[in-house]
Amino acid sequence: QRQSRFTCTGKPGHIGGESTIPPARLREHRTHSARQLRQCSHETRIPRTVGAFSGTAIIVGTMIGSGIFVSPKGVLERTGSVALSLLVWLGCGVLSTLGALCYIELGLVIPESGGEFSYLFRGFGPLHRFFGPLPAFLASWSINLITKPASTAILSLAFAEYCVQPFFSVECPPPPAVIPLVAAAACWLITIAHCYSVRMGTGMQNLFTVSKLSAVALVVAGGVYSLYQGNTRHLATGFQGSTSSASDVATAFYSGLWAYDGWNNLNYLTEEVVNPARNLTLAIVVALPLVTICYLLINVAYLSVLSPRELLASPAVAVTFADRVLGPVAFLIPVGVALSVAGALNGTILSTSRICFASARQGHMVDILSFIHARHLTPAPALLFNAVLTSGMIAAGNIDNLIDFFSFSVWIFYGLVMLALLILRRTQPELPRPYRVHLWIPVVVLLVSMYLVVGPIADAPKLEYVYVLCFLLFGVVVYTPCVFYGHSAPGMRRLTELCQKALEVVPTD
Ligand code: ARG
Repeated sequence: QRQSRFTCTGKPGHIGGESTIPPARLREHRTHSARQLRQCSHETRIPRTVGAFSGTAIIVGTMIGSGIFVSPKGVLERTGSVALSLLVWLGCGVLSTLGALCYIELGLVIPESGGEFSYLFRGFGPLHRFFGPLPAFLASWSINLITKPASTAILSLAFAEYCVQPFFSVECPPPPAVIPLVAAAACWLITIAHCYSVRMGTGMQNLFTVSKLSAVALVVAGGVYSLYQGNTRHLATGFQGSTSSASDVATAFYSGLWAYDGWNNLNYLTEEVVNPARNLTLAIVVALPLVTICYLLINVAYLSVLSPRELLASPAVAVTFADRVLGPVAFLIPVGVALSVAGALNGTILSTSRICFASARQGHMVDILSFIHARHLTPAPALLFNAVLTSGMIAAGNIDNLIDFFSFSVWIFYGLVMLALLILRRTQPELPRPYRVHLWIPVVVLLVSMYLVVGPIADAPKLEYVYVLCFLLFGVVVYTPCVFYGHSAPGMRRLTELCQKALEVVPTD
């Protein structure tokens, strides 16, 4: 039976951890219809609704977003040759696949939502009272406050750009406020849908994924047709012009890895996956090779039509490509790209709320973020929190170079997660592991992630890296009183209750 009072008081490790109105009382607070009340008597937790198809759609639909359609030039520019750029695309796919295999093992040993946060929390947490939970906190701190809102903002802006394009031209550009406004509107609309229903969110993901795969198929078909006509000139240039600088290759990897990012997204909601041992595994095993193959084929298609120079000059490669080969159906590509970006945005909003929710549940974010809507059973506070931060980033503008800097900070945590896998094998060998990766896999991913993090800093130190480090250090300062000692800000309890009433949210069972 449900406890009569839900309270986190006195439990160390809670930012702002006091509260809370129990579900029963919250329900009395509003007058609900009998049907609504009956719905309330369900368990208070996010339901398990994600099957194999939705799981695959969450991964594929988040990975394929703007990257492959809008900015495949980053890789080509930095590698200098067609063949090396294709190798980097393949390399990024292999690296993501190896990382994802490790995430299958982790997702099944630690069947909790929250992705990196939960794995770092369980892996490092028991090692030391103070330092153990710190990596998990820093992951949640930087992912929730910077990297996820930044990627949500980047995707919202890309979506907005594609949406307004047909209505304006070079001579008549959109007023400066239009794109940010459309971006914010898209982000809020999707967020509200996710607050309303988990099923609606995953249903939208399925729809977006199917439409983006159709856009991919169209591009590939155009490429095949062009190759069939004998356009292999650009591809035949091979390794001509390849860069010899290792750091150029590393930054090329960064551009590619943005396009592949999202491979870990299903692990953010493991608790919502039906039969994870089957469906999480299946989704990852299907999605990663599928996306890698799509990306390679799309690149070959582009290069069968555009010369490397044209590709570098085009602001939206897929559209330039379509104008050249698709004739009367060329308009389908910008529509497909907009839908593709909307799908990645949808998947990102979905997964972001889950890591926020999971870390708040362990006391690493304010309590209210771990609450779910009493009737809809959706993590509404976490969703709204991300939308607020995203809107701030959209308003601040100039987030383009956040992409490089985004990969930099996420790979710190992917590397640490690999370490957590190795530590868990040692410290908790008895845990059931329905799937075990070969140990060389996490070791390789760990080494590559170290290279990706350290390489660019050593090679060309930039101020942005210092900002990331300062931000992490500031995290340590917050961690000590708020999480380690569990102090909460004055007035937090009232604020939590106020938010609870306003949003009708309750702690989970
Ligand atoms: N790979 C996506 C794209 O090319 C972006 C994914 C954003 N990252 C995330 N974890 N949701 O647009």
